[in-house]
Amino acid sequence: MFSVDAINKTSEQQYLAVKGSCQLSGHLKVSGAKNSALVLMAASLLTEEKVELKNIPSLTDIDFMSTILIKMGVEINRELHTLFINPKEFYDVTLPGELVHCLRASFFCIGPMLARLGKAKIPLPGGCQIGSRPVDEHIKGLKALGACIKTEKDMITANILDGNKRLKGANITLNYPSVGATETILMAATLAEGTTTIQNAAQEPEVKDLINMLNSMGALITGEGSPILKIEGVRKLNGCSHTAIPDRIEAGTFLIAAAITRSNLLVGPVIKEHLTSVLEKLKECGCEIIEEKENYLKIIPKEIKGVDITTSPFPGFPTDLQAPFMALMTTAKGKSTITETVFEKRMQHVKELQRMGANIQLNGSIALIEGSDQLKGTNLTGGDLRSCAAIALASLSSEGQSIIKGLHHLDRGYEKFEQKLNKAGANISRNQSRVNKNVQLKNELGMHHKLGIKQEAA
Ligand code: EPZ
Repeated sequence: MFSVDAINKTSEQQYLAVKGSCQLSGHLKVSGAKNSALVLMAASLLTEEKVELKNIPSLTDIDFMSTILIKMGVEINRELHTLFINPKEFYDVTLPGELVHCLRASFFCIGPMLARLGKAKIPLPGGCQIGSRPVDEHIKGLKALGACIKTEKDMITANILDGNKRLKGANITLNYPSVGATETILMAATLAEGTTTIQNAAQEPEVKDLINMLNSMGALITGEGSPILKIEGVRKLNGCSHTAIPDRIEAGTFLIAAAITRSNLLVGPVIKEHLTSVLEKLKECGCEIIEEKENYLKIIPKEIKGVDITTSPFPGFPTDLQAPFMALMTTAKGKSTITETVFEKRMQHVKELQRMGANIQLNGSIALIEGSDQLKGTNLTGGDLRSCAAIALASLSSEGQSIIKGLHHLDRGYEKFEQKLNKAGANISRNQSRVNKNVQLKNELGMHHKLGIKQEAA
């Protein structure tokens, strides 16, 4: 079992030292998809039989989800990138608050808990660095399936109405093609009585990956890859062995690492249909992309020029690559406009890139960029997972060294980030921040925050 504090504390006290003007070569290996793995782990609660999940990345988010499931009685063992899950003894229906607030994706457990046990108690996941992240679409869907949902003091209590044992199939239309809401409703509907349709469903590859796993467990889901999903409820689901898809966001991040350092690089394995919009934009801004064997892509950056992007649900340009792509645009020739439409606060990287000398004007969620080749390394802090990746990429190409803090964000979504880049020629070291003795003492005596003492990096 992992202690959340220990995981967070370690990364919080660390920083990366990144040497700039870097050239990459060789290849960057892509791990399993974080945003598949998390929901696949929740889906394992739908059966009493053993589930084996392969190609699961080693990330703090996966550790958090494992800790949550173990606290509820599930047995989980890990061997390298495979999880062996035995959900037979899953009995506790109250998710621990402090863990839910660390990992929003733990909210994915509400659907399976309701479907299998008929009840669930889960803290309302709050907002996070990128937005308010409401769950109203999840709740609306579960209510349509016959759940009674009460929210008192940020605790959601859900159970199945008038003593029925099962949820009831329903026709549900989402106001927004929410990935999480689609996945919550999908999982709950697999064990409902009757047929469920979801209109305006999310079409992200991770949703399709979940559908493939559920169908391999005996679910009857059709329409994957389209905005209309149909689920015929069944009485029970069996165990399975399922391999998660490669992480398209990590792959996109590594392709952008090649582009921003003007390096020819192999990246893979990828499923290129998961990256169509990203590959189009990389080609449009001046990169040649060649398909290689074993699902690798070769990227050959030429002269990089500014292009405009607007994020949108799949198959549009993914919001998770908006920050890394903006880093690339700050080094491109000419102007570009980046418009974020999915999350309302996903521009934390802008101020850090501006501190490196990037020319960005931000107006709400629209960034106007004038590219230059004058980025300078400096002390930087990542404010969320993808912003952290973005400033790390910018540091690779800038002049001089950068110190990057906020690694507890980065370690949530990128497995062995600096090790993989160093294997391709980067020069990045991970260091422990030295808190000076005086501050350490005041920290321990709890005087720190009162005295407003600034901690010094190493
Ligand atoms: C998933 O988050 C991913 N996380 C996110 O990845 C990703 O950015 C996002 O999908 C969009 O692709 C996981 O899969 C664990 P949404 P999710 O529900 O499900 C609004 C990363 O960096 N909305 O599609 O939370 C919401 O406010 C993370 O890896 C409602 O209004 O995304 C947002 O504006 C970040 N009501 C929009 O929909 C709801 O009930 C998209 O959210 C649900 C969502």
